[in-house]
Amino acid sequence: MKFRKLIGALGAAGLLCGVSAQAVQAAESLSVLHWWTSGGESKAVGVLKDDMTKEGYTWKDFAVAGGAGAAAMTALKTQVISGNAPSAAQIKGPLIQEWAEQGVLVPIDSVAGDWKKNLPPEIDKILHADGHYVAAPFSVHRVNWLWINKAALDKAGGKVPTTWPEFFELADKMKAQGIVPVAAGGQPWQDLTLWEDVVLSQGADFYKKAIVDLDQKTLTSDQMVGVFDTVRKIETYFDNGRTGRDWNLATAMVINGKAGMQFMGDWAKGEFAGASKTAGTDYVCAPVPGTAKQYTFNVDSFVFFQQKGSKEATPGQLALAKTIMSPAFQEQFSLYKGSIPVRLGVSMAKFDACGKQSYADEQTAIKAGGYVPSLAHGMAQGDATAGAITDVVTKFMNSTQDSKSAVAALANAAKTK
Ligand code: GAL
Repeated sequence: MKFRKLIGALGAAGLLCGVSAQAVQAAESLSVLHWWTSGGESKAVGVLKDDMTKEGYTWKDFAVAGGAGAAAMTALKTQVISGNAPSAAQIKGPLIQEWAEQGVLVPIDSVAGDWKKNLPPEIDKILHADGHYVAAPFSVHRVNWLWINKAALDKAGGKVPTTWPEFFELADKMKAQGIVPVAAGGQPWQDLTLWEDVVLSQGADFYKKAIVDLDQKTLTSDQMVGVFDTVRKIETYFDNGRTGRDWNLATAMVINGKAGMQFMGDWAKGEFAGASKTAGTDYVCAPVPGTAKQYTFNVDSFVFFQQKGSKEATPGQLALAKTIMSPAFQEQFSLYKGSIPVRLGVSMAKFDACGKQSYADEQTAIKAGGYVPSLAHGMAQGDATAGAITDVVTKFMNSTQDSKSAVAALANAAKTK
């Protein structure tokens, strides 16, 4: 359901009318909606569950499986409309604003006193609505990564590709070894993740114009036709079994050597770590070809819903927000999740080579103007626009449509508000 329809439904259910504040409970039970169900993801959210349990709260887990959260978002809308909003839900990017506009969130300013100076400004901004903090950030995921099985890479000459021609050369060599060159899942968000990687490889300015500004000239350019051509060529290195495949099953193919490479954000690292694989020895993380100086960021956060009609956060919601931003939690969560802490100044000493590289590349990208929001992971556009672009890309990748007509459809989809 799109947001416009949601507003109507909330109004009909009487949920937007003012409800008098009621006394909040002390150690309440916290219902938490999220989509962290893969091995690495569950381990990471388990840290929060344990911390909250130690603080005396009861954790009611509402995990809705499905990478990138499409199914979770549908479940959330149903819960809110039926008057059963969770205490907290995994929401990020412009969607935070869209939910805030419904008048169903609570501010968490009282625990966010030192957040501004401890967060990159690009991210601090996203967590606000109407001048108040309404979301607590977990970590920074870099989306533009290529994961490579080290043994397969060595057998194919050992050179990590930094350009598309080098990538295709490597993929051909892997094919000759009898393994699937590129492990891909078959879900719309995974298609969009690959497509935005290729857009990014055209440079940060091109990416910003196309994906952030939705500039028609850029969207209809020959360069954009070339982006679709490259995506089409990459697809020829997929296996036949990708339809409906989850991202972590594609990662497993790289882990066990059935496949050579995967385009995926660094939550994939949580799967490698869970399988006791070491960066540099068993697998390699490399920026997507042509994107070494760029960084597509994806910052998960929780928003907090009004409980029992109160417009103020409950003690449990505030404790949750406070814990999420605490340095100790930030470190442990990211170690399991594959991300890096979003809070500035947390030590990177315990992180592996990929984590350290992510951190260093983030600093470089911020300074050089290459730090850009991921479209596929809800950071760049609102629900309707992102959905329309996703439809175009996934249709292209699952048909024989030519690049020029995909570009025409893309330019049209970008007008969706
Ligand atoms: C992303 C989310 C990550 C990870 C991934 C796969 O959108 O930000 O935390 O969970 O989906 O589920």
